[in-house]
Amino acid sequence: MLNDLVTGKKAELTLDGKTYSLPIMEGSEGERAIDIRTLRSETGYVTIDSGYMNTGSCASNITFLDGEKGILNYRGYAIEDLAEKCSFVEVAFLLVHGSLPTGLELKKFSDLLGGFALIHEDLIHFFDHFPPYSPPMSILSSMVNTLCNFYPEMTDNPGEDIDMMSARLISKVRTIAAFSYKKSMGQPLVYPRHDYPYCANFLNMMFDSPVNPYVVNDEVVAALNKLLILHADHEQNCSTSTVRLVGSARVNLYASISAGISALWGPLHGGANQAVIEMLEEIYENGGDYKQYIDKAKDRNDPFRLVGFGHRVYKSHDPRALIIKKACESVLRSLGISADPLLDIAREIEEVVLQDPYFVERNLYPNVDFYSGIIYRAIGIPSNMFTVMFAMGRLPGWIAHWKEMWDDPNWRIGRPRQIYTGPQRRPFVSLSERD
Ligand code: SDX
Repeated sequence: MLNDLVTGKKAELTLDGKTYSLPIMEGSEGERAIDIRTLRSETGYVTIDSGYMNTGSCASNITFLDGEKGILNYRGYAIEDLAEKCSFVEVAFLLVHGSLPTGLELKKFSDLLGGFALIHEDLIHFFDHFPPYSPPMSILSSMVNTLCNFYPEMTDNPGEDIDMMSARLISKVRTIAAFSYKKSMGQPLVYPRHDYPYCANFLNMMFDSPVNPYVVNDEVVAALNKLLILHADHEQNCSTSTVRLVGSARVNLYASISAGISALWGPLHGGANQAVIEMLEEIYENGGDYKQYIDKAKDRNDPFRLVGFGHRVYKSHDPRALIIKKACESVLRSLGISADPLLDIAREIEEVVLQDPYFVERNLYPNVDFYSGIIYRAIGIPSNMFTVMFAMGRLPGWIAHWKEMWDDPNWRIGRPRQIYTGPQRRPFVSLSERD
């Protein structure tokens, strides 16, 4: 794959009086890279790029994003079209397979998801042994890794049909998420139904109860499909890179995804959606004075960041945030919520921030996490499950990247280099001489 991208153009690098020619690569959307795969063997030098801000780890056919123009495409399709016209299951199929499903393919994939919706009854007992108030992301990461023990066929034959592997995981993670919520509420588990599609089934498992039957709201189902689609992939973000790095050691899909869930948990990454709502609730409870939070965020001596703003790649609007912000209004309306004070505060913060030189100079815009919690909260999902929702959405992307790496003939185990800055070689000092 990488070798096909070499353009014939060269970058010249002069080191210690010698000039080296490094090949230039170009992707299908015009992204260019300097190929440094032979740099160390030719020059003895490595490159350093903390946070990998300028370093590409792979070539990928899955997602393209342009941070300057606010473009996001999955397998060439614009996120705006997919969010408006598809179901999450269609987009999951697209990410994993590379093409939108035909009617027959979609039915087959949906049937697989339905067939895999149950988890082993012994696995359900695991919920009884997590301490109360265990963070849902910790439960999810543990349970996904444990799936390897209950379904060894998923690990013994990693090259297994990707439909089976992806459907099994996408379906069981939905059940694990809903069951962990019911357990945390002390309510009886609600099992998946064979006659409900993916998102309606999840909502029913979350909110149905013997004394208060849940009535599926089509607007809420549509909003959940949209949110999961918008979170489904985002090229080489922290958690996806984690899945690829762990998987590069030839680790099975479920253990690799479990590692990705842990990376997503971070407040700088997927954990931000929960932190945003907690910040908005705190501002609301303190009388709505959000200006002090903006001032804190601008104070170089204060580590506080205005969660939900800024992005490593988007230096203009995050297209997902624009779509979610618009969806807030229709979901709230469909739920009969005439006004949401947190949404009002969020809108005011955005308006002030987008005119504040500190944020403008640094190209800090609302990201995918700034408005998503407004919708999750309106649906009734507790804030400590918001990042679990992000993980449910991101699953197809993680699976697609793991599979792309697994099938890459040029696959190498990921193993970055470093620059050592510790003590130089020194004589050993025995214990008796150290006192
Ligand atoms: C996600 O990578 C992906 O694609 C991630 C994601 C996905 O779909 O997978 O899009 C999902 O993780 C979205 C991001 C969610 N996180 C947050 O909302 C947390 C708040 N945002 C930040 O902490 C920050 O913006 C990051 C982590 C998102 C990006 O960090 P970078 O790229 O390392 O940027 P940086 O820390 O170098 O910041 C550059 C400047 C700094 O100021 P100076 O040193 O130049 O003076 O911008 C400032 C930062 O202090 N800055 C902020 C800020 N974000 C950056 N200042 C205040 N508030 C913020 N939110």
